[in-house]
Amino acid sequence: MMSDANIFQPPNFPAKSHISSIEEYNKLYKESIENPNDFWDKQAKNFLTWFSDYTQVTSGSFQNGDVSWFLNGKINVSYNCIDRHLKENKDKVAIIFEGDEATQVQKITYYELYLQVNRLANVLLSLGIKKGDAVAIYLPNTPIAIYSMLACARIGAIHSVIFAGFGYESIVSRVDDAKCRLIITADEGLRGGRYIPLKEKIDQVVKHCKSVEHVLVFKNTGRHVNFNSSIDIWADEAMVEQRPYCPPVFLDSEDPLFILYTSGSTGKPKGLVHTQAGYLLYAAMTHRYVFDYQDDDIYACMADVGWITGHSYIVYGPLANGATTFIFEGTPLHPTPARYWEMVERHKITQFYTAPTAIRSLMKFPVSFTESSDKSSLRVLGSVGEPINPEAWRWFYNHVGQEKCAIVDTYWQTESGGHLISPLPGATPMKPGSATKPFFGIELRVLDSKTGQVITGEKEASGVLAVARPWPGMARTVFQSHSRYLTTYMNPYPGHYFTGDGVRRDNDGYYWIEGRVDDVINVSGHRLGTAELESALVGCSLCAEAAVVGFPHDIKGQGILAFCTLKQGYEEDESNVIALLKKEVRTIIGPFATPDVIIITPSLPKTRSGKIMRRILRKIGAHESTPEQLGDISTLAEPEVVQLLIDKVSKVI
Ligand code: WTA
Repeated sequence: MMSDANIFQPPNFPAKSHISSIEEYNKLYKESIENPNDFWDKQAKNFLTWFSDYTQVTSGSFQNGDVSWFLNGKINVSYNCIDRHLKENKDKVAIIFEGDEATQVQKITYYELYLQVNRLANVLLSLGIKKGDAVAIYLPNTPIAIYSMLACARIGAIHSVIFAGFGYESIVSRVDDAKCRLIITADEGLRGGRYIPLKEKIDQVVKHCKSVEHVLVFKNTGRHVNFNSSIDIWADEAMVEQRPYCPPVFLDSEDPLFILYTSGSTGKPKGLVHTQAGYLLYAAMTHRYVFDYQDDDIYACMADVGWITGHSYIVYGPLANGATTFIFEGTPLHPTPARYWEMVERHKITQFYTAPTAIRSLMKFPVSFTESSDKSSLRVLGSVGEPINPEAWRWFYNHVGQEKCAIVDTYWQTESGGHLISPLPGATPMKPGSATKPFFGIELRVLDSKTGQVITGEKEASGVLAVARPWPGMARTVFQSHSRYLTTYMNPYPGHYFTGDGVRRDNDGYYWIEGRVDDVINVSGHRLGTAELESALVGCSLCAEAAVVGFPHDIKGQGILAFCTLKQGYEEDESNVIALLKKEVRTIIGPFATPDVIIITPSLPKTRSGKIMRRILRKIGAHESTPEQLGDISTLAEPEVVQLLIDKVSKVI
């Protein structure tokens, strides 16, 4: 057994864990790697209900980009998440919802969920939506988002959930890319006491998106919004007119379930496509093992359904397992920083899954906010989205978990569908800051980033993180851009899936994620491409050129630092210009993408061939700007601009 002050042994739960020792994990992991076909065959039969059996467990390879799982099987995801639980658990609560105010609590049983999803699926059919059509979902984080996703899944429509914090251009590009025929939205969202206009944004979007035939509008806040009867339909009125049974469509394992866009290092966001059976199996299985989910648990994930964490761990994983899942429209600070822990006490939450950025923002407040609620129901605390710094880990462990809970630091991606690396609560000794060990079936490699050589052996290794064999939950393609899928993930290191993350593996075989090695930044757990931000900035008529980098930020993990040169005539009024540029990014991408710091400069550090030296800008942002740290800058076209930028940045960061 490893022993060290920095190693935390897994707690002994009164209820037996699914995996209750590291030996058991090792054994099952070994089996999953040595005998993958049998392993996954067993899991697919255990976790999923099939309309007809598959004929082959898996085929294809990374290299050929043709990975598929459970070939020719017939299945329906909404049937797996709802119908099959009705026989025994009709009255079990499927969803607990809390709105922005603590008084807005709703509990929805599996039977009620069934009725709503069936009615909504029939509404979709009545609007001519059929298998293979793409439906955009732009909704607040409430049960209606879950109904909408499952209604699409029921009829084989492909949902594309667009996070409700996205602004105009981000919505338009997503709706256009998948040629969505329908948008499902609501009047408004309500978070932290602020109304978020959703329908109003969609009104602008439909003017430009030719593919959209209808907008289905739910009432969330119930306040007045514009209504255009030639295109808009009130969802509640339409649902009342529909029969609450809609036969689930028999879909192939490999039919698409959803598209979810995520940022990469170049170009516009990629629409990752996840398919039916492999995705659902992987979401359900990781949900059960990583959270050690047991039948009577009240499982809560604080994410938004607009991101992959919401898809896999609010909706699909928990509901496939017949769990009670929690969905929260509000924020951790509203009305006070005690909100999360009051929810834990109110609902006797057993698993609580959140992001390091939320933990860091709560740590700043007096600990009395955390300690005043009864948190004794908790067994497992989860972290996702970015590396968790050991200080935040310990605060979570001590003050929230009261030294009795397991912390699962889950490393994964939109592309992976579910967790790739994570401790298992009853089994894995934890090290604060390490996501620890791979999940079953995940064969990891540390590669030398330059040569692509696999770094083997027991000794510490540092490099980039890759996966050496396909797993059921992986995205199968980028929507209508398979070549981009291959170029981004499969071609950089042939025979491997490339994660885009740097990693260190320690002597105990534990993985420590070191952040992205590409031009993707992670701001409060939101993944953003610097290229997207730059293009939003230069889209503004004031800005001539922009270079964006991440910088270390106490709460957000990374902040957004933008360097902009201006077009002639705009140079005088810097603070006004900065405000305008920030506003532009808020409108185009969304408020969460607003640059923290904008530096106006007469020029950017470039090579003589005109390439912006982002490496130097990153160092300046991190205050690593001594001559030794910056390295040779004599090859720059205008080396003197570097000192100017160092001076400007040091005044604001
Ligand atoms: C980062 C979110 C360290 C990583 C589920 C990855 C993490 C990107 C962790 C994916 C973690 C996610 N520790 N880094 N536990 N979890 N990341 O697609 O850089 O929004 O590549 O999926 O977040 O972000 P995405």
